[in-house]
Amino acid sequence: MFSIIRPFLFNLDPETAHDLAIKSLKFNPLPNKMFEVEDEQILNIKLLGKNFPNPIGLAAGFDKSAEAYNSLLKLGFGFVEVGTVTPLKQYGNPKPRVFRLEDDKALINRLGFNNDGMEKIKSRIISHKKKGILGINIGPNKETKDQKNDFCLGLKFFFDIADYITVNISSPNTDGLRDFHDQEKLVDLIEALNKIKKDNKTDIPLLLKISPDINNSHIPEISEAAIKNNISAIILTNTTNGNRDNLISKLRREEGGLSGDPLNQISTSMIKKFYKELNNKIPIIGVGGVNSGKSAYEKILAGASLLQLYTGFIYRGPSTAKDIKKELIQILKSEGISNIKDVIGKNS
Ligand SMILES: Cc1cc2nc3c(=O)[nH]c(=O)nc-3n(C[C@H](O)[C@H](O)[C@H](O)COP(=O)(O)O)c2cc1C
Repeated sequence: MFSIIRPFLFNLDPETAHDLAIKSLKFNPLPNKMFEVEDEQILNIKLLGKNFPNPIGLAAGFDKSAEAYNSLLKLGFGFVEVGTVTPLKQYGNPKPRVFRLEDDKALINRLGFNNDGMEKIKSRIISHKKKGILGINIGPNKETKDQKNDFCLGLKFFFDIADYITVNISSPNTDGLRDFHDQEKLVDLIEALNKIKKDNKTDIPLLLKISPDINNSHIPEISEAAIKNNISAIILTNTTNGNRDNLISKLRREEGGLSGDPLNQISTSMIKKFYKELNNKIPIIGVGGVNSGKSAYEKILAGASLLQLYTGFIYRGPSTAKDIKKELIQILKSEGISNIKDVIGKNS
């Protein structure tokens, strides 16, 4: 079915196609049964105090303003992360700001945190009871004078309605944001967030989303800061500013973050490095170029306990989660593995 409508969708500007997808998802009448797979229990995994039905999550950025998360869960994703949400509504960068690099199975985006702002998004989530695991990804407004304070506002606002909060320090399209990868600045931020948790007597898991463009020397520093300050999981990785030279698409020099196939190996290698450094003290969520059972399996072998994807969903369509789950189950069965948790990090 998707192969029939894909040429029509791909004829539209990527952002128009995305808005259309969100609108149709809001009214998704398809029955749950259509997206179920056999033997999904092989993929069940317990993490962050939750039972994930499967490890394939939808990454932040697709449902930025929490308009369609229940429909997305219905498509078979094991969890959905909405956002990035900023304290105030913002438009983001001028259009065009999303580019499809079809020949590279990639996207470049410089959206710049367009979203409806936390008030509207919170009331939307309250009025649409979540039917699965929902993460909320938070970040600062472009015009803010105090990025740390914006993160604090996000946590205060959402800790009571999310299953976890992602602290997004890694988008390439907000000036100064990636400076939070410096250890001193990072510790200062996490300490402020932990104080909010303490003051509000909440145990909400805090996750840290990292850029693939950091220096290797940052890996031990970030790991140490995360372990010492009780971060619950690390998400590896956001989009990259680099790796343009090997691309073949016309649009490869567009400014913004690159995602999809060309990010796959970069993020998998970062997962391996962090897996060694974290020494099983903090789990990893792997994201970047996951678009098949094979690419999902490779990231799990590298050390990821859960996965997320965005670009793969654009190219494979509504059955992406279902198809990847089927492919992954087949791989696990062929290797005689009875649960996904038994292979996490086996290649690192
Ligand atoms: C159009 C677009 C918008 C995105 N917006 C966000 C965002 O708001 N917050 C965030 O943390 N990541 C965002 N991302 C990054 C994704 O969550 C993910 O980390 C990245 O795309 C790599 O995964 P993929 O190769 O499966 O797409 C965005 C990605 C794309 C393609």
